[in-house]
Amino acid sequence: MYSDLFGKTAVVTGGSKGIGNAISRRLAEEKMSVVINYNSGSGQAEQTVEELNKAGGKAIAVQADVGTESGVQSLLDAAVEHFGGLDVWINNAGMENRAQTHELSLEDWEKVMNVNLTGVFLGAKTAINHYLAHNKKGTIINMSSVHQRIPWPTFAHYAASKGGVKLFTETIALEYAKRGIRVNAIAPGAIQTPINAEKFADPEQKQSTLNLIPINYIGKPEEVAAAAAWLASNESSYVTGTTIFVDGGMSLYPEFSEGNG
Ligand code: BGC
Repeated sequence: MYSDLFGKTAVVTGGSKGIGNAISRRLAEEKMSVVINYNSGSGQAEQTVEELNKAGGKAIAVQADVGTESGVQSLLDAAVEHFGGLDVWINNAGMENRAQTHELSLEDWEKVMNVNLTGVFLGAKTAINHYLAHNKKGTIINMSSVHQRIPWPTFAHYAASKGGVKLFTETIALEYAKRGIRVNAIAPGAIQTPINAEKFADPEQKQSTLNLIPINYIGKPEEVAAAAAWLASNESSYVTGTTIFVDGGMSLYPEFSEGNG
């Protein structure tokens, strides 16, 4: 538990499912007030809110498309209206779909870029403006991926968006460090989430992923949420512009694990 988080407010984009859901829960356990954003399917978001509020937390669910200015603004407005401000903004919403690049449609490219990269820009911009206007040392956490570093054929748009998140994170961390605003990223590897459910339900595909993970299991959303809570708290006060890899060693070139090469 991080006592400095107590009573503070977070926005978690894409907070109803998968990693975002685990982060929302963890921050509520840290006694933060949480705006849980979802785009479609209000069910899980409303259910999470109900559970968290019953458990003594403070959460609300807000529908918004993070790829639009009005969408991210409505998340900030909800934080201010319901909880009196904003301290932590987590750009977690993301999407992916497989396509060979020579067949990838412009529409799919733009959809992925819009949520994964433009959404991160818009969310960060909204949070920074709030922090500057209130002279607040807020934090921003961007959900990246091991594929900000590892090329991923048939997911070129996804990898490009995450590569963009990396340098965007570093750039704005530098730009606003003097104002006391910290910006970091988290790069999860293979995590058991709805995005991956189908893939890991197939034993062969699951094994081929496990072969890429030195720690030898598929990560849990809670293990990513733990990094988010630390980055949100003052325990990470000297950390900005960095990416924490939560990937069981996936980014360590596991093919070389026996000294081959
Ligand atoms: C993707 C997952 C994938 C993992 C490792 C993540 O960024 O969302 O689908 O399993 O990277 O390749």
